[in-house]
Amino acid sequence: MSHGPSASGGALVAAPPHGTHHDEPHMPVFVGDTRVELDRILSRYPTKQAALLPALWMLQDARGWVSEGGIEEVAAALDITPAYVKGVVSFYTMYHQHPVGRHFIQVCTTTPCNVCGAEDVVKSLLEHTGCGDLGLTSSDGRFTVIEVECLGACGFATPIMINNDFVESVTPESVPRILSELK
Ligand code: FES
Repeated sequence: MSHGPSASGGALVAAPPHGTHHDEPHMPVFVGDTRVELDRILSRYPTKQAALLPALWMLQDARGWVSEGGIEEVAAALDITPAYVKGVVSFYTMYHQHPVGRHFIQVCTTTPCNVCGAEDVVKSLLEHTGCGDLGLTSSDGRFTVIEVECLGACGFATPIMINNDFVESVTPESVPRILSELK
């Protein structure tokens, strides 16, 4: 689905939140204290592969997204193939396959929320963030908006997630206030 250019008309870029760009070489994450933390996590699992999801979280926390270099680092750390890691990364929307805005906004547009106006919430978010379209990042690097399937809050349409925070009962009118409370 496309929502067309935003009213704000800002330039659309895939801006990284933590200073990491698409074309920059991958800097290893699992070194020093982070390697110690990964080893501590690995000790809790029966196999290294079983720790794939938390390892990817650690990588994304450090770099803001999961690059090809990051996938290779995780694969090496867990003794699995990069193809297996990529399959997992591409399955879950919670892992970013490209740089995203500092505030990553997920909007439920599954049918129950859709009939309650989720599409209008998406349009309002795209307009007021300056993102212009789903999956793009605002020119100031602050926002990326995507649609997701049911967030498990069907009674509180429209729910959105801003990074790890849940916001319920969002309306097109409440979007500017919600965004103004973000740094
Ligand atoms: S359908 Fe939107 S939260 Fe469940």
